[in-house]
Amino acid sequence: MTRLGVVLSGRGSNFLAIADQIQQGTLPAEIAVVISNRPDAPGLAAARERGLAAVSLPSKGVDREEYDRQLAAALREHGVDWVVLAGYMRILSAGFIREFPQRILNIHPSLLPAFTGLDAQHQAFDYGVKIAGCTVHFVDEELDHGPIVLQAAVPVEGDDTPATLAERILREEHRIYSEALGLLLTKPWRIVNRRVVLG
Ligand code: GRF
Repeated sequence: MTRLGVVLSGRGSNFLAIADQIQQGTLPAEIAVVISNRPDAPGLAAARERGLAAVSLPSKGVDREEYDRQLAAALREHGVDWVVLAGYMRILSAGFIREFPQRILNIHPSLLPAFTGLDAQHQAFDYGVKIAGCTVHFVDEELDHGPIVLQAAVPVEGDDTPATLAERILREEHRIYSEALGLLLTKPWRIVNRRVVLG
């Protein structure tokens, strides 16, 4: 069974959506460990409650390269095959990315390449787009940039606020993160230039 290492910094709803799919038997993987750079992340507490291996690895005051070495070591210790970023609020160093080639995924709450970085839903709302969405992508050395696995479009309604839009996007995030993982774990795929070719 493919061993996932979930890395998060906060709420952990994407982690929980993946954990639910695994529990229901619809995603053939297991969560080997959940690691948070923030000791007080609710996602880490949720992992503990579910009886999963949960590691607090505080990043405060630790140099990026050094931190990423510790993170890679902790993931290796738990025999992780795939790294699943789920609301991890730090950029990974090139050294870390080389440790897990084509095995690091992220979810971002916009239709990339639009609205990278923080508060993407708010950025999209302020820009006035009529279609927002979310993206599951491989992680490379640039922020919110690697090859795209799946995207979902979400309409922006006239009476939306940034919060209601973010909520609608989040529902799609929960759906497509597991779907993307399922595709990559069970079907042939390859990356051609920056296109993820499935099947
Ligand atoms: C999500 O919006 C995700 O797209 C972004 O960070 C947020 C994490 O939410 N990368 P959660 O911790 O999974 O609830």
